[in-house]
Amino acid sequence: MKYFLDSAKIDEIRYAYKYLKIDGITTNPNHIKNSGKSFNTICKELAAEFKDIYFPISIEIDPHLDKAEDMIREGRKYAAMSSNFVIKIACTEQGLIAAEQLEKEGIKTNITLVFSVSQAIQAARIHSTYVSPFIGWKENNGEDGISYLKEIKDIYEKYDYQTEIIAAAVRNGRQIGKLASYGIHITTAGLAVYQESLNHPFTSYGIQKFCRAWEETKQDD
Ligand code: E4P
Repeated sequence: MKYFLDSAKIDEIRYAYKYLKIDGITTNPNHIKNSGKSFNTICKELAAEFKDIYFPISIEIDPHLDKAEDMIREGRKYAAMSSNFVIKIACTEQGLIAAEQLEKEGIKTNITLVFSVSQAIQAARIHSTYVSPFIGWKENNGEDGISYLKEIKDIYEKYDYQTEIIAAAVRNGRQIGKLASYGIHITTAGLAVYQESLNHPFTSYGIQKFCRAWEETKQDD
């Protein structure tokens, strides 16, 4: 399973790349806003940071755009900045038309803001490179946010769809484990989610217990 980092903060990205071995990045307008930098500055920084390696970085186009032709123009512009850039487009009819065209031109796309199986099927049918079904937002809404990922995975296998599934808005290690058991290709989450997924109260308890034993052990003369 691949881990992508959901962030536009360059210090977090560097840390996660070096120590958590992340395999790619997903950004969205919220992450760009939280970075405190402009959209173009972040794009340039990310392009430069990974210029020597293959490292997929999803860049979300302006969400105001609602016509495929405008999305295509914007997608081409960002794709020209880095071969690592994957153009992230919301799952609307126009968005899917734009993504299909970009993919035909060899530009990778990530269909985002996906909340249903039928949306994910169409993303695969137009051959998007990635699809991002969200978990956390559905869970916050009181819905089961995780089992539809298994349905999507099963359907993709049945029809031999090549689109890779990025489980998005992942909130905890339990969800990561469940997604891995479904065979989901990729998870994307913030740095804290990955860090917290490495913790367990028994691990901390065990360290304390063994520290005490260590201190009470007879020492060599
Ligand atoms: C996915 O690609 C999105 O960027 C992301 O997961 C959005 O969710 P969040 O910001 O609520 O975590």
